[in-house]
Amino acid sequence: MNRRKTLSMVALVSATALVLAACGGGDAEGDGEAAGGDAAAEGGKTLRLALNQTEEHPSFIALDNWGQRLEEATDGRWSIDVYPNETLGAQQEALHLVSDGTVDLAIVSGTQLENLNEDFLVFNLPKVFDDVEHQMSVINDQSIVGDLYSSLEESNNLTVLGGFTQGARSVYTTFGPIESPEDMAGKKLRVQESELHIAMAEALGASATPMAFGELYTGLQSGVVDAAENNEVSYWTQKHYEVAPHWTYTKHLVGLDYLIVNSDLLAGMSEEDRAILDEEWTATYEEHTELWNTATEEAIANAKAGGAEFHEIDTAAFDEALGALADEFISNENQQALYDAARAAAN
Ligand code: GCU
Repeated sequence: MNRRKTLSMVALVSATALVLAACGGGDAEGDGEAAGGDAAAEGGKTLRLALNQTEEHPSFIALDNWGQRLEEATDGRWSIDVYPNETLGAQQEALHLVSDGTVDLAIVSGTQLENLNEDFLVFNLPKVFDDVEHQMSVINDQSIVGDLYSSLEESNNLTVLGGFTQGARSVYTTFGPIESPEDMAGKKLRVQESELHIAMAEALGASATPMAFGELYTGLQSGVVDAAENNEVSYWTQKHYEVAPHWTYTKHLVGLDYLIVNSDLLAGMSEEDRAILDEEWTATYEEHTELWNTATEEAIANAKAGGAEFHEIDTAAFDEALGALADEFISNENQQALYDAARAAAN
C-alpha cells in the first residue's frame, strides 16, 4: 500500500505575517526598496538567505563565504546576508517566503520539498545513499536531478540549485542507549515534518512526533519527546546533547538539505551574473562537503566533553524494518527512476 501525503501545509499560511515582522516590512536597507516581494532585481541586490543552523555550522560558514565571493566577483552588484537560527522563520515558513519572494534563498531539508512534490521523497528514504560521497555524486548529476530541481518552478516559483549533505543521521535519547526497535517502544521520537519520516520513526520502533527543528531543544528538555535523530554536527551546535546525552549509531539515513532560490529572481539576473552565481555555488557545496568531516569529528569531541556518550551497535534489526519503506512509499515512475539511478550510482 502506498502511503499518501497527509501532512497539512497550514503552517505556511502564517509565513507572510512572520516575515513582515522579521524584516520590518520597510526600507531596512535604505536603498529605496521596500523589504519583501522585490525578488526580481535585475541589477543586483543583497539577497536574504534563511537558515535554521547556528553560525558555527558548516552550512553557515560555506554560505557566508559564498556571499563574499559573489560580491567580489560581481563588483558588489550581488551579495548574500545569511540569517541563521531560524531568524526568518523555521523551514516550513522559509519555503513559503522564498516562494513569494519575501526572502530570496533558503536551505531546507529534503523533507520539506517532499511536501510540495512527492518525487523528492526518494532522496529522503533511509538507505538510498550509502555515504556522503555517493549522495553528492547523485545530487549533482544533472542527468538524474535536472527535472526534479526545476519541478517546483511553475507550481511554486522555486528553483533548487543543489544540495548540502546532512551526513549520516542516528538516534539520540534522553533515557539511555538503545539496541533494537524494542527499546524505542512507547517512546516519542521527534521527526521532521514528513509522512515518510513519520513511518521511519515507526520502523525504528518509536511513535513519531513531527516538530520544527528550533523547537526540539525545549521538546527534549520538557519531555514532549524522548528522542530525536540527526547528525553529530547539529547534535552539538543545537546543544541537544545537554538534554539527550545518549547517542546510538543507527545511521539510518544520509540526510540532504537543498538550496532553494526564488525562480523570478534567477530569471531576472543577467546571464553573466547568473553564471557567476552558479559557479560560486559549486565552490560552496564543495567547501561544505570538505568541512563536513572535520565538523563531525569536532562535534563528537565537543559533545563528549559536554557529557554525551556515543554507542556503536549492530543495526541489523533497524535496517530490516527500514528496508521496507522504499517499497511502501515509491508510487510512481519518476520516483522509481530516481531510486534506480541513485542505487545504480552506489559502489
Ligand atoms: C539537519 C538539517 C536541517 C534540518 C534538521 C532537522 O540539521 O541540516 O536542515 O532542519 O536536520 O532535523 O530538522
